[in-house]
Amino acid sequence: MVAVAPAMPPAAKPAVVPSSPNFSCGPCKKHPGWSPDNLKNAVLGRSHRGKLGKDRLKRAIDETKALLELPDDYIVAIMAASDTGAVEAALWSLLGPRPVDVFAWESFGKDWVTDCLKQLTPLDARSFIAPFGQLPDLHQADFTHDVVFTWNGTTAGVIVPDGDWIPDNRQGLTICDATSSALAVPMPWRKLDVITYSWQKVLGGEAQHGILILSPRAVERLESHKPAWPVPKIFRMTKEGKLNKAIFEGETINTPSMLCVEDALSAMAWARSVGGAAGLAARTQANFKALADWVANTPWIDFLCQDAAVRSPTSVCLTLAGPDWTHVSAEDQAAFCKKIVALLEKEGVAYDINSYRDAPPGFRIWCGSTVEAADLAILTQWMGWAYATCRAEMKAAA
Ligand SMILES: Cc1ncc(COP(=O)(O)O)c(C=O)c1O
Repeated sequence: MVAVAPAMPPAAKPAVVPSSPNFSCGPCKKHPGWSPDNLKNAVLGRSHRGKLGKDRLKRAIDETKALLELPDDYIVAIMAASDTGAVEAALWSLLGPRPVDVFAWESFGKDWVTDCLKQLTPLDARSFIAPFGQLPDLHQADFTHDVVFTWNGTTAGVIVPDGDWIPDNRQGLTICDATSSALAVPMPWRKLDVITYSWQKVLGGEAQHGILILSPRAVERLESHKPAWPVPKIFRMTKEGKLNKAIFEGETINTPSMLCVEDALSAMAWARSVGGAAGLAARTQANFKALADWVANTPWIDFLCQDAAVRSPTSVCLTLAGPDWTHVSAEDQAAFCKKIVALLEKEGVAYDINSYRDAPPGFRIWCGSTVEAADLAILTQWMGWAYATCRAEMKAAA
């Protein structure tokens, strides 16, 4: 009798689970060593405008500047409503005097396109949109215009590789949503006039507070331009036409959560302990390598982003690949991926690794610095087992 080889060799169930199953792309895993005890110095039940509270807020700002290694003349504020609040405060306050070019290649960047083309009217704005997995041609930017873009497209796994396309002598402002790239990859601060991010991503902090960073040119714009549209109080950074400096010294526009501030301080202390920005970037690269090595040796999986030069090392987006999937509809692929995700969740191996709701079917795995490379290597073994298990079930049902 001739034995029929199985289509997939059965993968043995791994014996070890990752030390943490948290691979979500946001909120991301808390930093190693995190515990509620880290928050015991939080200024709770006291006014954030009192000396204690203000000192803590100022410390968060100073530590942010030091950790990011920002130019001395850049200023930092803690804003409401996470990264979204920080981006929209910038768009509402700064745009108008020049035409605007907005680049997008995934869900969040498209939100900023909507803001610029549909909400902030009248505004002379153009959009450059690439499909999931690709970067638009950034060289189409006209730098006599203001240019708005995300550095890392979290839902597509596509990242801007460098700032060489941005001229030093630009006339317009560059407004960059860096929520899943600041502190994960080196960034050319002098090429960026506005930078935003939220603590809930790379630092594994809490949501609802956003960091807004302004270059001197952005401040000059704030002080010289009066927007044509109403600017809600929560976005207002000027007082009688001048920069409200107090906001950049820790006097937040409205009441912050001092628990979240303490949590961010804890995350930044951990970041310093692993070597600051360079240490965080090195951890991210090591994490990405754990996944990339597996992808290189696994025929059924591939990166959504085909161009390695613009592949994100933080929000890694993967799709089903190979001849078995060529003729399978996106709907069926999504259902299969959901099965794998559910199985891994049930086994306590990985949470929240499904692709983003608007993105092509697949998996999205956070490789930022708070995750451990050893855990990612273990996860890949489980992915192999889950794939073989779900394929076998699928075949049995066919
Ligand atoms: C690129 C990008 N921009 C903006 C956001 C929104 O961030 P938040 O919910 O912190 O406002 C996200 C969240 O995942 C993101 O990835």
